[in-house]
Parts: sequence; C-alpha cells; structure tokens
Amino acid sequence: RNQWRGVLHEWADVLDVTDASTVVTLGEGGTPLIESKALSQMTDARVLVKFEGLNPTGSFKDRGMTVAVSRAIDKGAKAIACASTGNTSAAAAAYAAAAGIQAIVLVPEGKIAMGKLAQSVVHGARIVQVRGNFDDCLEISKELAEQYPVHLVNSVNDDRIEGQKTAALEIVDVLGDAPDLHLIPVGNAGNITSYWRGYSLAETSGMATKRPRMLGFQAAGAAPIVRGEVVREPDTVATAIRIGNPASWQQALDARDESGGSITAIGDADILKAQRLLASSTGVFVEPASAISVAGLLERHAAGDIPAGATVTLTVTGHGLKDAQWGLKREDGSDAQPESADADTAQVAQLLGLA
Ligand code: F0G
Repeated sequence: RNQWRGVLHEWADVLDVTDASTVVTLGEGGTPLIESKALSQMTDARVLVKFEGLNPTGSFKDRGMTVAVSRAIDKGAKAIACASTGNTSAAAAAYAAAAGIQAIVLVPEGKIAMGKLAQSVVHGARIVQVRGNFDDCLEISKELAEQYPVHLVNSVNDDRIEGQKTAALEIVDVLGDAPDLHLIPVGNAGNITSYWRGYSLAETSGMATKRPRMLGFQAAGAAPIVRGEVVREPDTVATAIRIGNPASWQQALDARDESGGSITAIGDADILKAQRLLASSTGVFVEPASAISVAGLLERHAAGDIPAGATVTLTVTGHGLKDAQWGLKREDGSDAQPESADADTAQVAQLLGLA
C-alpha cells in the first residue's frame, strides 16, 4: 500500500521528469473513478465519474499546477501570476506556498466563490480583485508576465495542459481502454484540450485502442464556443466557467471535431438540478461548474446521443464545498431549514417519526 506520489512522479515517463527535475507536489492526481448506478440507470449506459474535487486544493487545477510551478522553479522564477475564476488561483497559491515563492492572482471582483478566495488568502497569495471579468484578468496577467519578472501559470502555459492530460491517462489505466464518450465542462477550454491530448497519447502509445467522442458543455450565459462569437458579458451561477473568450478556443474545436463530438450549452437551472442529483443519488458533491457534465449527460441522452451500453466518463472538476451556498438551497430555490430539537432522545425520535 504505497502512497500515491503525485502526477510528476506517477507519470514521470510521459511528463519527461528526470532525477534533475524539481518536483513541487501535494500528492495531486490518482482521483477515484466512481461508477454511478443512478446515472447509469437513467441513461442506459455505464456512467463513471472522475471526481477531481478530491485533489489537494479541491479541483483538477492541481494536476497542471504541480507541473507549471515545478518548471517555473527550474527556470528560476521567484513569482508566478495567473488570472482566475477561483480554482486556478487557489492551486497557484497553494503550490507557490509549497515551493516558497510568491503567487499573484487576479480575480474578477465579487465573482468568485468564497471558499476559493479563502484558499488564496490562507496560502498567502497576493490577490488583486479586478473590476472586470475573467477575460480582462487574463489579458492583464499575460501583459504582466511579458513586462515584469513574473511567470504566467494560466493554461496558455503548456505545462498546465501537460499536467492535466494525466487525468485521461488515469481513466484509460483504470478502464483498460478509453471510454466511448467523455463529458467535460468547458470554460477557458484548457481542460478539454488536456484530455484530448491525453487520450491521443493513450492511443498512439498503445494504452488504448481508440479515443472517445468528446462532449463539452458551456453555461448558456457564457457559451462563446457554442455561439461562435465572443461573449462580452458572460453570466452564470457556475462562476468557475463564467468566461466569454476562452484562450484555448481553437484547441477545443479541434478536440470536438477530431473526436466527432460536440460542445453544447446548458442553462443554470439544469446545472443546479444536476448538482443536487449527483449529490443525492451518487454521493458526490461538486460545484455548479462541474455539475454541468451531469446536466450535459442528461441533455445528450434526451437528444439520443448516448448509445445504449456505452462506457461514459464524466469529469467533475471541483469540490462542492468550494461554493457551499448552493448545497443549502432546495429545488425551488428556497433555503433548506434543518429541523431542531432539545438534547432529548425521545423528542428526537418523535420528530423523526420513529417513536
Ligand atoms: N470546472 C471548474 C471547477 C473550473 O474551475 C474550471 C476553470 C473549469 C471547469 C473549466 O476548465 O477553463 O480548462 O475549460 N476554471 C479556471 C479558473 C478558469 O480560473 O479556475 P477550463
């Protein structure tokens, strides 16, 4: 029972890690692929959920950040910078802390989940809340990195894509082959790019006999790729994917088209419904942006796009505790009100209808 050693050690061969390479790790990766009986039944397929919320900072970003920060150290970086809707900044802050360097994070003011902001604070990042959206933050971050001695760790940095591709390799490793379909949220489009690279590598290296169809999902109010044009004022409850001009737009189109897949839009109400469904039927609590994979599965099933008996993997990208407010809401949007009782067994039993 050896401890999982993080993606740079576990996937050293595919990430070109040598004895001379710096490795900054928090043990990321190796996340469980959980079979969902409920979703399988609902869709007549075999549905498995890759729960990326179980990474050290609670999202898939850790896979890319271990690589980006390790390589930044090898290049002599003393500070890293990123734009973020919250998760990248949390990961950057944590890995910079582990490496003993400074993280600078730019986030859209008032538009990131409280848990994510708390992570950046507690890990000691320098946080700038920008009066603008993610796309503005990314432009500024790129310019900072061009003009000043800070190392950019957004997914326009290929080290991030390299690290994140390991999730696809893990899925192939566990299943013994690639799935038939892979469903994934799309925001800045780095992760769909990573998975496609990972699945392509799995096929060319002989780990897999095929590549899956890639089905990506954007929130309806922030769906530039679906609409085919930049969205100036993106808006959705899924703040993690509130992005109007994705950096890896073209790569997402390539993944879609080369795989014979699709990228479609899902409304906020369906996202929140899917979040509750996954939590209550499967035991996996994810943030709204992640639940779009589940909402997307149901939407694609209704559209007749999920063949019976297919093996379907879903990436759920971030933990529900990051943005816990949604867990406290009922279906109709009202606040859940836990019942109260005195410290008395008889009273509790009566309240529960047991007595
Ligand atoms: N899900 C979550 C929970 C995310 O945080 C993100 C992106 C995505 C999905 C979409 O992934 O951008 O690679 O297409 N979050 C970035 C951030 C933008 O700053 O944390 P993508």
